[in-house]
Amino acid sequence: MEFPHPTWLDRAIGYQIYPQSFQDRNGDGIGDLLGILSRVDYLVDLGVDLIWLSPIYDSPFLDAGYDVRDFKKVAPRYGSMEDLDRLIEALHAREIRLMLDLVPGHTSIDHPWFLESSKNEPNPYTNRYVWTHSMYEVPTGTGEGFLQGYGEREGAVAINFFWSQPKLNYGVLQPDPTKSWELPFDHPDVRAVWEEMFDIIRFWLDRGVDGFRIDSAKSICPDRPPLGEGRFYRELRGIFDREYPEAALLTEWGWPSDALKTGIHADFLLHNNLAFNELFSLPGWENGVPAPIFSDQGGDVARFYQHYLPHHEDRHGGLICLMTGNHDYMRCGTNRSISQLKGLFTFLLTMPALPMIYYGDEVGMPNVMGLKSKEGGFRRTGCRTPMQWDDKDGFSETPRTDWYLPPHEVPGERTVAAQVGHDDSLRTLVQKLIHLRKSHPALDPEAPWIPLMEEGPTLFYQRGEGEKALVIVIHPCQTERIIEWPLALSRKKPDLQLSQGVSFRKSGSELHLAPESFAIFI
Ligand code: NOJ
Repeated sequence: MEFPHPTWLDRAIGYQIYPQSFQDRNGDGIGDLLGILSRVDYLVDLGVDLIWLSPIYDSPFLDAGYDVRDFKKVAPRYGSMEDLDRLIEALHAREIRLMLDLVPGHTSIDHPWFLESSKNEPNPYTNRYVWTHSMYEVPTGTGEGFLQGYGEREGAVAINFFWSQPKLNYGVLQPDPTKSWELPFDHPDVRAVWEEMFDIIRFWLDRGVDGFRIDSAKSICPDRPPLGEGRFYRELRGIFDREYPEAALLTEWGWPSDALKTGIHADFLLHNNLAFNELFSLPGWENGVPAPIFSDQGGDVARFYQHYLPHHEDRHGGLICLMTGNHDYMRCGTNRSISQLKGLFTFLLTMPALPMIYYGDEVGMPNVMGLKSKEGGFRRTGCRTPMQWDDKDGFSETPRTDWYLPPHEVPGERTVAAQVGHDDSLRTLVQKLIHLRKSHPALDPEAPWIPLMEEGPTLFYQRGEGEKALVIVIHPCQTERIIEWPLALSRKKPDLQLSQGVSFRKSGSELHLAPESFAIFI
């Protein structure tokens, strides 16, 4: 089955803002909504037009806001509902859309629903979460985590991630009689969870947001075949089609061919997927591979295609979202040269996929190493540091010692101030690539994508067809290479604004690739 998506999504350029780290306005050292508002011109100048804002809801912040205490309230540290309204208005006035982060699978342990649910006396919230019938009854070998010994209720509660994130009960297609906590989809208490979530979704869409990034999206689809048919998402898609046809859903599922068949508009390629790892993930990083394509020694595009193509070919009308990174992952700028990052962005912005830039990656921000865990960040903490606007107090006027996280001590050229207006900076290249992406027909996600070389360290592909086709060559590793240049492409010339380190030899029949080279041929 095919699920069309709103046309704006085809050309959208995503940008993830981690609210606590982007821009502080009220001087408490933590980023906020009015801070983001003050940087709308920056976003316009960069050219992005779809913001994904990590959670801004009321929370005890045991998982940096992914532990929601009130789904309909803005956390005071980020501002007020009126601030959000102002931000939405300002973004829309500049044709930028806003996606909030929806965390449907769990709540904070402090959520009023959970406080009720953990009471011994039966009440309307008794089945709102996944509880076993005895504190001692904890399944083993299923991969599910359970919290034992919380509150007065006789039972253990399933958790979605940290101990402080109890799992909401979305039901299953066919309850397993040996698992007392499994309820069928049509159980009234399961329906109540679905309806609450639909209500929350409508609440924000009615306020003007343009969609959601859905956290841990797969967690609410039972993990047994047939995946509960993604029934929650199918129903949600129906609501979107009928009531909000211009809004979109982007899931943190990480397996596009499964996610998109439920009617979701776009799904991330994540580090649980080898296609992502074969591109970006160095050894020592989560699921790192010995030699990804974007590494000094170079990878093999065959391994990337092997894992990517099955998803590309099974999109059901949806989009794969390719990201530079996110708040859970080592920043792509860590241990990578600016030249290699230029190739990485050339790839990201010329693929038939929805690009998503993690704030600061456009200037090559690296992880800050050796930080103590903040708000459940643990090893993720180093990728959540303040936006490197400059090497001074661009993020916040308050002394650095009071910032949400310490900034990089020696950011060098990896700041906005050092790169804006400089012809050869990474940010300037990103800006040019975004412009090309938005204006060139060959870069429409529906335009053909034709890999021209299916093995080795070099990404070499064509976008579009005929006169207007673009040819892209990206050679991220440290060794030189010569590739044969197809006769059929003899009229193509590198766009000098969007190229580095490539030169034709032997009357144009060979292309020499310097280390860390890239080019777009027009
Ligand atoms: C994925 C989010 O990206 C991550 O930051 C969070 O900790 C987990 N989901 C749990 O919500």
